[in-house]
This record gives sequence, C-alpha cells and structure tokens, in this order.
Amino acid sequence: MLSKTIEAGLNKQINYEASAWYNYLAMSAWFEHANWTGFAQWMKVQAGEELEHMHRLFTFVNDRGGKVALEKIEKPSADFKQPREVFTRATEMERQNTKSIHALYAVAIEEKDYATQSHLKWFIDEQVEEEKITREIEGLLDLAGNDQSALLMLNRQLGERASKDS
Ligand SMILES: [Fe+2]
Ligand SMILES: [Fe+2]
Repeated sequence: MLSKTIEAGLNKQINYEASAWYNYLAMSAWFEHANWTGFAQWMKVQAGEELEHMHRLFTFVNDRGGKVALEKIEKPSADFKQPREVFTRATEMERQNTKSIHALYAVAIEEKDYATQSHLKWFIDEQVEEEKITREIEGLLDLAGNDQSALLMLNRQLGERASKDS
C-alpha cells in the first residue's frame, strides 16, 4: 500500500510526464510549421516517450493499490524563434523533471518505501540519458550556428529518429 505522501508525489510526477508530453508535442508542431520536419519528427518521438513514462507511473500507482488522480496540464510554451531556443527549453524541462524525480526518491527513502525507490531508479537513469541528448543537440546547433546547410543536415539526421529508440 502506498502512503498518502508517496501517492501524492507519484501523482505529481504523472502530471510532470504528461506536461512533458504536451510540451514536446507543442515543440513538434512548432518545428513542423517552420518546415523543420526532421526536428519535428524527433520531437514527436520524444513526446511519445513521455507518454510511456506517464503510463509506467500510472500502472505503478494502480499496482500498489493507490489512487491515480489526474490533474490539469499547463499550456505549453510555443513562441519560439530558433531551433536552438526549442532545445534550450527542452533541456531546462528535463533538468526540472530530474529534480522532481530526485525529490520524490528522497521522500521514498525517508518513508522506507523500497518498491517506489526501485521503480524510480529506472527514471533516474532515464533522466541522465534525456539530459545528455538534449544537451548534445544544443551543442550541435551551436556548432551549426547560422549555417543553413549544416542546420538542414542536422534536421535530416534527427528526422531519422524512429519510435522506440531512446
Ligand atoms: Fe519523462
Ligand atoms: Fe523526458
């Protein structure tokens, strides 16, 4: 059985993942509209992953006999100017999410909730990967600068990302 504190924390995290899904979806739409279809595809796959994260937590709360409480998802930002700006926002979002997961993990330790600790370990590892990827892309965009052909090449490369890679 989940304690009320852990249940509330997991529900908050479910909202975070849903919010990440919505934000990446908005980023994908922004790229699509600006004709950066490769970046748009990358963002769409990323959005799908966030939904998967949400489902992992959703199932876990149910499996532990807790009650899932879905909350309102905030409106995502969509007023970007450059591809670089979108990825900066993505990295910020991932860092915030990492903090949230770490805080929840700390509560699970405090409460001696070993099952939640074990479940969250996957998320902790996943965040290392998530932050690394968006940071890497930010770096590549910096290298490309205003070079349109470099940007187009990067766009094409990222467009090769298919669902199910991480
Ligand atoms: Fe996530
Ligand atoms: Fe993420």
